[in-house]
Amino acid sequence: MIRVNPNYQKLQSSYLFSTVAKKVKDFQTNNPQKPLIRLGIGDVTRALSPAIIKAFHEGVDEMAADETFKGYGPEQGYSFLRELIAESDFVSKGAKVSAEEVFVSDGAKCDTGNFQELFSQDIRIAVPDPVYPVYVDTNVMAGRTGTFVDGRYQGLTYLDSNPENGFVPSPPNHAVDLIYLCFPNNPTGACASKDDLKKWVEYAHQHKALILFDAAYEAFIRDPALPHSIFEIEGAREVAVEFRSLSKSAGFTGTRLAYTVIPKEVKVYDESGNAQSLHEMWNRRHTTKFNGVSYPVQKAAGAVFSAKGKVESKALCDYYLENALIIRKTISDLGYKVSGGLDSPYVWFDTGMDSWQFFDRLLNNQGVVCTPGVGFGQSGQGYARFSAFNHRQNVIEAVELIKKELSRS
Ligand code: MLT
Repeated sequence: MIRVNPNYQKLQSSYLFSTVAKKVKDFQTNNPQKPLIRLGIGDVTRALSPAIIKAFHEGVDEMAADETFKGYGPEQGYSFLRELIAESDFVSKGAKVSAEEVFVSDGAKCDTGNFQELFSQDIRIAVPDPVYPVYVDTNVMAGRTGTFVDGRYQGLTYLDSNPENGFVPSPPNHAVDLIYLCFPNNPTGACASKDDLKKWVEYAHQHKALILFDAAYEAFIRDPALPHSIFEIEGAREVAVEFRSLSKSAGFTGTRLAYTVIPKEVKVYDESGNAQSLHEMWNRRHTTKFNGVSYPVQKAAGAVFSAKGKVESKALCDYYLENALIIRKTISDLGYKVSGGLDSPYVWFDTGMDSWQFFDRLLNNQGVVCTPGVGFGQSGQGYARFSAFNHRQNVIEAVELIKKELSRS
């Protein structure tokens, strides 16, 4: 008899964004004439930029001739791309990272979700609350939690992110082994300062813990005082892994390319306390389970780091940031407490009611989709998240509709 992994039965019935998508689909079926504006899932809407498209076409053309055709590439990514990433994203900005420490993949969602596989069943895990659900759900699937009670999985350390701490939690006062951090944060849009990250790096050293740092939104940082990478913090190379993605920074949600940086210094420990190389472990896993991103996509990704590609990608992020500012200002002018929308494409706000109730009202009355805050964790109850990844005209129309709905409250 084929039996299921019992841990799957602990999961909430559906992944957050699938539940949102189903509700939206039902709304459209029942209201085929009503317009809909999507500010829910963080999915980009604007086309790939000219420099990227040109390289993408060139990559496809190379696949069309025997002389330039490529079969399997290196699982970790082509050297040309790994070198560009290390230089442009890290070395030129003062963070030491070598090309060999960059692992190219098809998504930060997959990498952040898969990474837990490398660790023992009984490690102690800390996650912020609210949090990107992938970090929690993948540990539930792996059997590292108890059951879901009152909105939380037993056995996890939840780090409350709230207005009191500016949505940037401090290390707990007990030891944990694995810590998930994401800045600029999904969903709250909050950013961590260098001092905030220093505290986490010191904590990780003190407890021989590991930080999984999700920097998928770093391209939206404009404040020069804010760190873009955890590797800007001294000592982070021994205790942190960083996840990056071109999904939001260069419009690759449908094209797929991300990268994970694992410094060679990071050590993890076996049952006897002997240090092991995390870089070697991930390399072993990656080469066994992944066959690389397609060549044309890597070629297109390389163009993101060209002089023209950098200007175009920055302009794309600036466009979405302007949207975020419009949303943020509208809600804050109505007297609501707002976080994010500055240095971040997400606007997070306290709706003053149950998150799903607000979601349903906004969808059914105004045809605007948001993401209910409670879907990111118990501490998100009462909040909603707006994504700025839409066309300007839609955002302008959406804020009028949001204003209308909020004025009814
Ligand atoms: C989000 O809306 O939180 C993101 O689009 C999710 C993701 O990147 O997987």
